[in-house]
Amino acid sequence: MTPHIEAKKEDIAKIVLMPGDPLRAKFIAENYLTDYKLINQVRGMLGYTGYYKGKKVTVMGSGMGIPSMGIYSYELFKFYDVDTIIRIGSCGAYTKDLNLFDLILVNESYSISTYAFDQNGYEGKIIEASKILNDKIINKAHELNLKINTARIHCSDVFYKETNPFKKLYEKHGCLAVEMESFALFHNAKILNKKAACILTVSDNLETKEETTSIERQTAFTTMIKLALESIL
Ligand code: HPA
Repeated sequence: MTPHIEAKKEDIAKIVLMPGDPLRAKFIAENYLTDYKLINQVRGMLGYTGYYKGKKVTVMGSGMGIPSMGIYSYELFKFYDVDTIIRIGSCGAYTKDLNLFDLILVNESYSISTYAFDQNGYEGKIIEASKILNDKIINKAHELNLKINTARIHCSDVFYKETNPFKKLYEKHGCLAVEMESFALFHNAKILNKKAACILTVSDNLETKEETTSIERQTAFTTMIKLALESIL
């Protein structure tokens, strides 16, 4: 038990899938897992542990943004002995070369967030995903005939921006898209010697201004869930 998770240690699997939205965790449990049970509802951050094709897995929401992901991933890694966390989320593309619903596997998260510096004095702006885990996900994507773009993305603290110099982040820093959680996840995995990956679906494009509807997002999300679940087998 931690301040934010009420589960017993043995009720959380070594591998955790984390959508941002706790209701998506519920959706995954109800549609993909067998013998699942609710293991957390503190603050409504629903978590479920069950089995996918016989493999024990926990699915739990991370909430939105670096601080929220920072808290949950730290507690899971540090106090629940979780080995691996895979974030499954959405992102906004910074280039017209990416289409709505394209899949991205993050290899590097770029951020000017103070999270890592505040956490342990780390001054870098780029943190990598687990290479081993990413290789597994890429191989599985090939096996399932899914196209996936490996990319550096921008992890931002702000969704609603008055000014948005995203072209600079694309051109100067090589960020192909933006989301808001991977930097904290990758940092925690790194300092605690664990594995983390982040799979994203493009839900909007800042260059072309295209957006997906919530129904479309739900469908696109299922491809990503399948890829994440198959990758842990
Ligand atoms: N900004 C930040 N995070 C996001 C976005 C965005 O435009 N789209 C999906 N996640």
